[in-house]
Amino acid sequence: MKEYDIAVIPGDGIGVEVTAVALKVMEKVAAKHDVKLNFTEVLAGGCAIDKYGEPLPAATLETCQHSDAVLLGAVGGPKWDNLGGNQRPEKALLGLRSGLGLYANLRPVKIYDALKGASPLKDSIIAQGVDVLIVRELTGGIYFGDRGRTTVDGYATAYDSEVYNEFEIARIAKNAFEAALLRRKKVTLVDKANILESSRLWREVVVKVAKHYPTVELNYMYVDNAAMQLVKNPAQFDVIVTSNMFGDILSDEASMITGSIGMLASSSVREDSFGMYEPIHGSAPDIAGQDLANPLAQILSAAMLFEFSLGLSAAAREIETAVESVLKRGYRTGDIWTQGTEKVGTKRMGELVLAAL
Ligand code: IPM
Ligand code: MG
Repeated sequence: MKEYDIAVIPGDGIGVEVTAVALKVMEKVAAKHDVKLNFTEVLAGGCAIDKYGEPLPAATLETCQHSDAVLLGAVGGPKWDNLGGNQRPEKALLGLRSGLGLYANLRPVKIYDALKGASPLKDSIIAQGVDVLIVRELTGGIYFGDRGRTTVDGYATAYDSEVYNEFEIARIAKNAFEAALLRRKKVTLVDKANILESSRLWREVVVKVAKHYPTVELNYMYVDNAAMQLVKNPAQFDVIVTSNMFGDILSDEASMITGSIGMLASSSVREDSFGMYEPIHGSAPDIAGQDLANPLAQILSAAMLFEFSLGLSAAAREIETAVESVLKRGYRTGDIWTQGTEKVGTKRMGELVLAAL
């Protein structure tokens, strides 16, 4: 029997609740596929600040480094909002991404037939379906660039810098083109090349990478226009490749098209099969601890883990099919509930998915 070590970071808020549910799903699916998963729970985020005084203890990073994959819930909450920049729970995420070399963040945005009614967009707009993969650069750009405070002309002044080199751009572009080959063969580079020098370098480098993928169509879009096009005509997009910050913003926007951010999974990967899997949503302190959270994004993140880190695509498809069947039968958590469907809590939703497997 094959064994895999999975580091589990439930984190804060609803991260804890959705992860507990996803682990049960993973166990059931693993058993079906004759695979043994060894889960090691570690702390990161606010709970780590409370216990160890820092958001990402060295032991947490080490456990992740020695595992085959990481499943992460969410970090943060109002309790830690007043801490300084380096002591905030979010710092754990950035530390995990850079410490594990996870430079590519893949965020699939798919609209489920059963959930079309939950989309805030008109039927006429989503009629052609929505199936976009956002490929976000994750370990560079303005989130990692030089930042600081100074005084200019007597005024307190702050700066953050957007820095990218050609190596970083080429490697994320490759992820986008490879993904496009398995999809509708279209890559849109989203940037701000009319203003930013870094965007102009992105264009130069991405064009070069594109030469190796003659069957994939490449087009460009300024980020402001892309924000608009995503709600005007989302069907035009297949793969979007973009910088860390633009990807952060656009993926939240795109997720809303599907009805709820509570549905979207993501993977953060590098060249080998290792990856960190997490829902796109945050720790949602307003609904934490009340059995209200939607666990489906985390369950779908677990599906991505099976597929990319364990090479078990069949297991991933089983999880996705189970989720779809539960939705088809009309069960909804509060975030995706619409008139005529049955509202269930986090745990019950998990049980329904387990039963459907
Ligand atoms: C995300 C989140 C994080 C990010 C925050 C919490 C640091 O918004 O994963 O998109 O900006 O990357
Ligand atoms: Mg974000």
